[in-house]
Amino acid sequence: MRDQASVLEDVRQGMIPAHIYNDDEIFALEKERVFGRAWMFLAHESEIPHAGDYVVRRVVDDSFIVSRDESGAVRAMFNMCLHRGMQVCRAEMGNASHFRCPYHGWSYKNDGRLVGLPFHGEAYGGEEGFRKKGQTLLPAPSLDTYNGLIFVSLDPAAPPLREYLGDFAFYLDFYTQQSAEGIELVGPQRWRVKANWKIGAENFAGDSYHTPHTHSSVVEIGLFREPKASKRKEGALYWAGRGGGTTYKLPPGTLDERLRYVGYPDEMIARMRATWSDAHLAMVGDDGFMVSAASAFPNLSLVHNWPKVEDTESDDVTPFISLRQWQPVSADETEVLSWFAVDRNAPQRFKELSYKAYLMCFGSTGMFEQDDVENWVSITSTAAGSMARRLRLNSRMGLLADDKPVSPPLAHFSGPGVAYVGFGEYNQRAMLRHWADALEAPPPEEGTVDLGGTS
Ligand code: FES
Repeated sequence: MRDQASVLEDVRQGMIPAHIYNDDEIFALEKERVFGRAWMFLAHESEIPHAGDYVVRRVVDDSFIVSRDESGAVRAMFNMCLHRGMQVCRAEMGNASHFRCPYHGWSYKNDGRLVGLPFHGEAYGGEEGFRKKGQTLLPAPSLDTYNGLIFVSLDPAAPPLREYLGDFAFYLDFYTQQSAEGIELVGPQRWRVKANWKIGAENFAGDSYHTPHTHSSVVEIGLFREPKASKRKEGALYWAGRGGGTTYKLPPGTLDERLRYVGYPDEMIARMRATWSDAHLAMVGDDGFMVSAASAFPNLSLVHNWPKVEDTESDDVTPFISLRQWQPVSADETEVLSWFAVDRNAPQRFKELSYKAYLMCFGSTGMFEQDDVENWVSITSTAAGSMARRLRLNSRMGLLADDKPVSPPLAHFSGPGVAYVGFGEYNQRAMLRHWADALEAPPPEEGTVDLGGTS
């Protein structure tokens, strides 16, 4: 690898050494310094509504059981038996009061406490020889939630999640809080692609430029009401705190008319009015911008769009929301987790049509998904070669040679952060600046690592 400092300097200039998209040494650093520290989305509270409900999710190599214990508290427990290290829970989701290790049968309550140990007396001399009491599966070092989204950090000294997200939380609200009760999820669909995890995260953060070309066939078949995908350049690109995204510019109208244009029924609009802040309402109603794709560093993305679901002459569209995570497997492979999200209070018919809209566009069979992934696999495989080590990719769209923006940021934008109208790679650069800062930071100190376990 070229020396790290010069690679990161190039990245900060928007000139990206192509090999960062497929480089084992960089991936080893990412595991330690990005995924070893960042807040990582694991699940949503609606996936585990009842006591005993659980899902099993990963932070790169580390498996966690995310459960709701008998007291209703959400737990994230390292899925490794305290005895010889077997995965305690091998199922992907379910409901259990206890988890019994398949190897020798130690068993744990759904809050992580060790409660069963076969032949405790004969093998260990009972409580006197080895105290079960006080032994628990290792908890995730940090756990926090926002609008029901459950995150963990492997860093016990992580800042509070809300502080980490910063002003990006404002934009998360559009996807996750359309009424006081928030969202419910369906999924996730999971599949693996031979692509580096950063490419999807960058794409969702700000690549409205690819839509007219990569997704032209989706427009040609009439899936969208807007006739030209190039309409995307009228949207604003914003970056705030730990994330950024793209928006669509809606036609002139009142707030209600603009939300109806996106396909929301009046009863959902009334709940949005009652739930969103004045700034949320102004961004849609006054500025006319509706959120589309977005990413929070490092690997959580969201998407909101409104295709025609039914094959009729009518102009009716139905909005959908999807959450997705680009879970790294290796430098050249990513596991995609894709959830359908919908407001819990939405009418049943809306939920059904919205799910259909999601499946048509995203998910393992979605038309957008198929278009995108072919690009990302190709980038990743080419980035492994020796020539890629000599190439710096140009990611300076929206910047002049002297680093000034082609057009100034929007003077009036109701959301927080900075926003530009038109095509630009502001957000991809912002995403990679966070990445460069993370790689440059010293590794988590040993003193902050909690050495739990049995003794
Ligand atoms: Fe789990 Fe032995 S490894 S009981």
